[in-house]
Amino acid sequence: MIQIKESLLQIKDAFEGQLNNVKTSSEAEAIRVRFLGKKGELTAVLRGMGTLSTEERPVVGQIANDVRSDMESKLQGVIHRIEAEENDRTLVEQKIDITLPGNAPPMGGRHPLYKVIDEICDIFMNLGYSIAEGPEIEFDSYAFERLRLPEGHPARDEQDTFYITDKILLRPQTSPVQVRVMEKTQPPIKIVCPGKVYRSDALDSTHSPIFHQIEGLFVDQHVTMGDLIGSLRLFARKLFGEDTKIRLRPHHFPFTEPSCEVDISCWGCGGTGCRICKNEGWIEVLGAGMVHPEVLKMSGIDPEIYSGFAFGIGVERTAMGRYGIEDIRLLFENDLRFLRQFR
Ligand code: DAH
Repeated sequence: MIQIKESLLQIKDAFEGQLNNVKTSSEAEAIRVRFLGKKGELTAVLRGMGTLSTEERPVVGQIANDVRSDMESKLQGVIHRIEAEENDRTLVEQKIDITLPGNAPPMGGRHPLYKVIDEICDIFMNLGYSIAEGPEIEFDSYAFERLRLPEGHPARDEQDTFYITDKILLRPQTSPVQVRVMEKTQPPIKIVCPGKVYRSDALDSTHSPIFHQIEGLFVDQHVTMGDLIGSLRLFARKLFGEDTKIRLRPHHFPFTEPSCEVDISCWGCGGTGCRICKNEGWIEVLGAGMVHPEVLKMSGIDPEIYSGFAFGIGVERTAMGRYGIEDIRLLFENDLRFLRQFR
């Protein structure tokens, strides 16, 4: 019995000696296996208990239990300490500075043409217009016939218009949307229609085969030229500033009568003449007029009851004026150095 007791205490001493040097959790685990495991030293000693008498057995059993639980709790203490240390170390090693700015993904910006389109549409939406859209690939009936551009009209010439077939083409203006809306809706009609248009023009500093227009249409009872002028004046002031003036020049469009071209006082000089307006003092930005009675009639609207005005704004020209852009090609080349200026 004495011998077993001694062995137990020796094991405990050896265990504590080794435990003091433990630095990592795997070392702690190795010690646990060696001393407390199923094939460990303590178990080996306890196997010898079979040789003891019935009186001795509970006494030694008690000692053995005390030694075991003492060793286990010491080991637990060391494991806790090591885990805490290891935790602290990881926290320090993997520290991240959450105040550093992140890697922002590259952000795009709205194209200057579309910024201007949005601005113009907003102005008209505030006047009660809604947005309408139509196809860029169009039938010639909508693009020409029903706008009073009969066969043989110079605008139908292949030199101006991209034809896909005899009857299908790329719309050279946004005016066909007028027809598409009128044939489906009875007045009052109040729409603006932004979109791309196509003409077979050579690319130079003021022409592009693709460009943008915003068509406007207002049809109701008693709509007059005075309403047209008032609306356009308001539009010009909102877009270019309160001092902006407009000027109407008589013109001809087959789909309006009377028709006019509308200039606005130069945003560069206010009308006195400068390089931007080529000393004219005025810049042409749109065509307009009173919708021709036959155009109304062809779309199912009674010209005896209703009248209307329409206009078509050139977006590129307006954007170039708004931002002082001197070459239309800049708007289509997608050079980020140019486009970033408008973010
Ligand atoms: N479609 C014309 C053009 O491309 C612009 C225009 C003029 C539109 C008069 C209209 C209008 O709606 O009434 O030059």
